[in-house]
Amino acid sequence: ATAPALQRRHASKQRFVVDLSQCLFDFVIQLLPTVEEMAVKEDVRKLLERLIRTIEPESRLLSFGSTANGFSLRNSDMDLCCLIDSDERLAASDLVTMLGDLLERETKFHVKPLPHARIPIVKLSLDPSPGLPQGIACDIGFENRLALENTRLLMCYAMIDPTRVRTMVLFLKVWSKRRKINSPYKGTLSSYGYVLLVIYFLVHVKNPPVLPNLQQMPPLRPISKEDTHVAGFNTWFFDDIELLRQRWHSENNETVAELLIDFFRYYSRDFLYNTGVASIRAGLLKKDSKGWQNDLSGGRYNDARERNRLCIEDPFETDYNVSRCVTKDGLYTIRGEFMRASRILSTRPERAIIALAELCE
Ligand code: GTP
Ligand code: MG
Repeated sequence: ATAPALQRRHASKQRFVVDLSQCLFDFVIQLLPTVEEMAVKEDVRKLLERLIRTIEPESRLLSFGSTANGFSLRNSDMDLCCLIDSDERLAASDLVTMLGDLLERETKFHVKPLPHARIPIVKLSLDPSPGLPQGIACDIGFENRLALENTRLLMCYAMIDPTRVRTMVLFLKVWSKRRKINSPYKGTLSSYGYVLLVIYFLVHVKNPPVLPNLQQMPPLRPISKEDTHVAGFNTWFFDDIELLRQRWHSENNETVAELLIDFFRYYSRDFLYNTGVASIRAGLLKKDSKGWQNDLSGGRYNDARERNRLCIEDPFETDYNVSRCVTKDGLYTIRGEFMRASRILSTRPERAIIALAELCE
């Protein structure tokens, strides 16, 4: 192509990414929870905490997941965790049963206690009402301190570069829900898994990186093992975000649209699904080195093989594959969706808003 033709193509690409970035901001902003919704949820948390304290006076009820990490969409469910600050506490399964009975008696929630689940929880829901058109869905778990810590880690990553990180994450959450690839129960990936894929991409794939690796930064002062371990896992990370904002600046100036286009390209083409493990703590790892290989033959290993199609290491619980629920078909569908998105964005239709609508169809 001639020089003017190349220039024209470059200018049209620049226009497209600027437009698309603006469309992405506008799109996610209208999906954020309203101030009223957040206030209602906080009221619900306080009410539930008061009730739980009638059974366990030393308990606290804390929010985790999207309501606490800055990646919440309108009407997302509430994840609550009950911590009990006393040595003599009831077993989680007994608490679930007792709390279930109490909430059934004292509130208007539909209550479903699951005392015998792998992680005992109480599931609650509230029917839609004029003030709460979508109702509320809420899970209460117990002593899940690792979930509180990983929520705080994600929140810190969001705070380092709120515009680019939150826009990308929120968009991918909506996109994966609309494209129906956000159900661990059906063999695809949880929201938590998608968030980890985004952070892995921004820390370890982009060069220069958009985010620093908070788990590998030198601590400001010496830290002891007691201060850093929760449930036997090292949960330390650099969490002084104010200081980080003064001292750390990304040299990556790409727009959110450029990052998103590259994200889809990377996960449709370049990520080593067969051998690689995405670890935000340590970068790209090998399935072999974690004992997460998926090429073992023989009936005995069928289960293991199905479990490790896609491997995403939990940031703290490092022996835990967050995407263990993703099946062969599920991964095929997810990769197909990454490819579809990549294709739509690379054709650069005349108006970015059209690309966005098609993407989330
Ligand atoms: P939406 O509910 O879709 O808005 O997303 P979310 O950000 O709340 O994510 P999700 O419901 O998938 O997970 C909520 C929280 O539960 C996460 O922030 C984690 O703290 C925790 N969590 C979810 N899945 C896992 C998992 O597989 N392993 C661990 N360790 N924690 C998890
Ligand atoms: Mg949630």
